[in-house]
Amino acid sequence: MSTVKLKNLVKSYGDVTVVQGINLEVKAKEFVVLVGPSGCGKSTTLRMLAGLEEISGGEVSISDRVINDVAPKDRDVAMVFQNYALYPHLTVAENIAFGLRIRKVPKDEIRKIVADVAETLELTPLLERRPADLSGGQRQRVAMGRAIVRHPKVFLFDEPLSNLDAKLRTQMRAEIKQLHKRLGVTSVYVTHDQVEAMTLADRIVVMSAGKIEQVGTPMELFNSPANTFVATFIGSPPMNLIEATAEVSDAGCYALFEGQRCLLPTLSQLSDGEEIIIGIRPEYIEIEPVADATAIDVKIDLVETLGSEALLHCKFLDKPFVIKVETHGQLTHLENLNKLYFRQNAITVFDKKTTNAMIASDKK
Ligand SMILES: Nc1ncnc2c1ncn2[C@@H]1O[C@H](COP(=O)(O)OP(=O)(O)O)[C@@H](O)[C@H]1O
Ligand SMILES: [Mg+2]
Repeated sequence: MSTVKLKNLVKSYGDVTVVQGINLEVKAKEFVVLVGPSGCGKSTTLRMLAGLEEISGGEVSISDRVINDVAPKDRDVAMVFQNYALYPHLTVAENIAFGLRIRKVPKDEIRKIVADVAETLELTPLLERRPADLSGGQRQRVAMGRAIVRHPKVFLFDEPLSNLDAKLRTQMRAEIKQLHKRLGVTSVYVTHDQVEAMTLADRIVVMSAGKIEQVGTPMELFNSPANTFVATFIGSPPMNLIEATAEVSDAGCYALFEGQRCLLPTLSQLSDGEEIIIGIRPEYIEIEPVADATAIDVKIDLVETLGSEALLHCKFLDKPFVIKVETHGQLTHLENLNKLYFRQNAITVFDKKTTNAMIASDKK
């Protein structure tokens, strides 16, 4: 099984650098998702890996072999695109077989491989149809079939589900995940959708403006974001952020904001009077008193019902603040809440100047 390594990878168009020295190691069989806002350089990075874009600097290796100068067709990678890129005049079977025919695989063998893949992807009844007569989900499956038959060392996906409606996207997401479990092919998957990243990835790479912000498992990014960008990009609704001033004494570390005083994790890097940002996830806020939690005065402006859950909206320092709670079928009491409880270890403290998270020394 193959590994992928990006070393100081750079892409420039003229004097604009859009990928700014990316370092990443994808392990054998790993499913890594590159996620970030539109224009941050995800597709460019993937296309350099596939050989579809010239590399301006650095190295791309597959299984420890540098492939910068290897032609795309010799890299042994298969790419699935957002727009499927199927041949409209060919049938499903011919589309899936295309790469095999080019490589002069014997006809009988091709027929068997196509039949197997069609079975796996539930495309058997559709083999004689043309792409125009397929639904979006079926077309995407054909595109994956075409990638699978080549037995590539690495699968590359560029927003393969973005053209599908929400329900189909969820279904195809599960199919891709199962396929990866079954085939175990090292995969690099690009999306702007953090939910897709969270559900599919073994590890997520969060990018912004051509740089990597953080690499980690979905839960690492959710619970220990490296900075405020990751804190607000991963999770929905995003992590709440409040600007505050630190109060540090022998009694412990506190955050002061809007006349309130909130107990923080004990952080040796924090100094008295420092400007900080405290972050707390909507899911990690308590509405009943618990141990090690500070009571915070609040006025709820709006309750949004999602069924089993509700979002409570309020403001701190004129910035929106959201709490996610389970309703247990009861809503009436929620808009009258006047206290929230911030547990000490549910709070992340960020340096306001650098926006980087401060990590407790026992967590290092
Ligand atoms: N051929 C090109 N010439 C100039 N700039 C480009 C070209 N292709 C992409 N870019 C720029 O590179 C940046 C990254 O693009 P891209 O990798 O497609 O982003 P993403 O896939 O994350 O949305 C964008 O600012 C885009 O405008
Ligand atoms: Mg893109």
